[in-house]
Amino acid sequence: MPQPRHKIEPMIPASAIAARIDELAREIEAEFAGTDKLVIVGLLRGSFVFIADLVRKLRLNVEVDFLEVSSYGDGTESSREVRILKDLRGEIGGRDVLVVEDIVDTGHTLKHVLGLLRARKPERLRTIALLDKPSRREVEIRADWVGFEIPDEFVVGYGIDYAQGNRNLPYIGRVRFVESAQP
Ligand code: IMP
Ligand code: MG
Repeated sequence: MPQPRHKIEPMIPASAIAARIDELAREIEAEFAGTDKLVIVGLLRGSFVFIADLVRKLRLNVEVDFLEVSSYGDGTESSREVRILKDLRGEIGGRDVLVVEDIVDTGHTLKHVLGLLRARKPERLRTIALLDKPSRREVEIRADWVGFEIPDEFVVGYGIDYAQGNRNLPYIGRVRFVESAQP
């Protein structure tokens, strides 16, 4: 399907993301100091770039696992259930776990994921999101750490997609939809 015409404007430069990840890494190290092997749970697919950069800044022994859940698309509010498309490979019972998400928007995804992981009885369950759009929240949920709070705009890059594209941009950009040109 052709996408509506759009352009991408820089919003958060790669250098600012890197600097913020340094700060977040120090806070996560402090929280998990003494943990034997922290389990990093990345939510596919949007978190893959963030995880790659974050784990390399952590002076902790970590294990990396991934979870993929269905997005609810344009479903009505009552159908905003998420299903597991790809489950974790490892057990998290009794372990210290950090869930890594790209964006918290309405909050439904993170809320469901935390519910299903909590049922597996981890020792500690914490969350970090690179981006947060608090003005869009529909359910009460907060990540323990947030890289950047952003306004209600559609963003791409640094792992985050628009129709599966643009994940490879090294910065976060806002998508501007352009009126089609007159013939
Ligand atoms: P939530 O369940 O509404 O919080 O949605 C979270 C998911 O929606 C994120 O993990 C993203 O995959 C997707 N999402 C939310 N906002 C954006 C955006 O601005 N650009 C791309 N994907 C987004
Ligand atoms: Mg996501």
